Amino acid sequence: ERHMIELTVNGRRHRLDVPGDAPLLHVLRNDLALRGPKYGCGLGECGACAVLIEGRVARACAVSCAAAEGRPIVTLEGLAADGRLDPVQEAFIVEQGAQCGYCLNGMIITIRALLNATPAPDEAAIRHALRYSLCRCGTHVEILRAARRACG
Ligand code: FES
Repeated sequence: ERHMIELTVNGRRHRLDVPGDAPLLHVLRNDLALRGPKYGCGLGECGACAVLIEGRVARACAVSCAAAEGRPIVTLEGLAADGRLDPVQEAFIVEQGAQCGYCLNGMIITIRALLNATPAPDEAAIRHALRYSLCRCGTHVEILRAARRACG
């Protein structure tokens, strides 16, 4: 059933006429043209669609718009909202932590959420945070290097 939903994304409020059970990912990408979050599995398993909700990592394909209503949402675009890249984004560029790059949204959002909760996470905490973020290219060595740089 469609009704007006109010979402706060990257500091801006949006009133949207969408079904309350629509996945947040679809609304971010299709209605708000925010293409940082990627569609991977659509099942909450790969992490490509990750966003921050109230500063914590959430899988936008598995969160309904109704569940996200009234809670601050930040996408990859929002990390650089002031025109300057987040240090996590900079670390991934410096370390070239990508092959195809499709998973990087999830990797960067996950490390940002980790840093929000834990200022100086150790190697075990970094690996634990990334455990459900899949990279099908096998670029894990570079991704871990970038994550360490961001957390160091
Ligand atoms: Fe959401 Fe894979 S697309 S977890």
